[in-house]
Amino acid sequence: MKYALVTGGSRGIGRAICLQLAAMQYPILINYRSNHEAAIDTRLQIESKGGKAELLSFDAADPHSADDAIGHWQDTHEGDSIAILVNNAGIRMDSMMVFMQNEQWHKVVDTTLNGFFYVTRRLLKDMLTSRWGRIINIASLSGLKGLPGQTNYSAAKAALIGASKALALEVAARKVTVNVIAPGFIETDMTRDLDEKQLKQMIPAGRFGQPEEVAALAGFLASNEAAYITGEVISVNGGLYT
Ligand code: NAI
Repeated sequence: MKYALVTGGSRGIGRAICLQLAAMQYPILINYRSNHEAAIDTRLQIESKGGKAELLSFDAADPHSADDAIGHWQDTHEGDSIAILVNNAGIRMDSMMVFMQNEQWHKVVDTTLNGFFYVTRRLLKDMLTSRWGRIINIASLSGLKGLPGQTNYSAAKAALIGASKALALEVAARKVTVNVIAPGFIETDMTRDLDEKQLKQMIPAGRFGQPEEVAALAGFLASNEAAYITGEVISVNGGLYT
């Protein structure tokens, strides 16, 4: 069976993507780092709709943790493969650069950029051998235009976009596509501390987006119909930045 792995899949945008891909009949691997209960809840939501899901716990920012978990899954799933990878795990640790600590810089880059590298490299060989794969990376408006207080996050997301474009060219001939979704402001735990009332005045659509609106695009990019789209960055931002 062809599985879809979603990093940081236990809540927010990742959870919505898990539900979307499950509705497309893909068995789902819900990756999470520590929130076991939220991951179980996502699995139950998938199963209640007739889908199939398994939990796969690892820290995307730790190469050994990701390698061990994926290796163990592969050892116990002969004949199955992970054909769709959504690199969704991400964190924010905002600070003006003049006050930014090394830890704030490294943790954000480790999660978004290094996490993408460790997990994607691990799964690429199988996708290339089976000549079909979908890699969908969740970047951000912040990686396209830069946002103050987010030099770490903007750098990590912009680098993720660059890496995705390069990888798309490396693997296109093997029918593996690599695309990026750049959400604007989406209502999740990550944006809970923001002043939504003030920020939505800047958004042409007049509101924050919903995780399902990002997931719908991920579903399309994962489909066979999207086979000729690769190396693209698609915004889901209510017209905030185009
Ligand atoms: P969230 O905070 O609800 O979800 C992030 C998920 O990633 C959490 O489940 C978290 O546990 C997981 N995660 C963090 N570090 C991890 C690690 N090392 N290993 C495994 N999992 C890890 O936030 P949200 O909004 O759902 O974010 C999902 C993605 O969307 C992130 O990459 C974020 O940067 C991106 N994004 C979100 C926007 C928003 O407005 N909510 C806007 C633009 C991008």
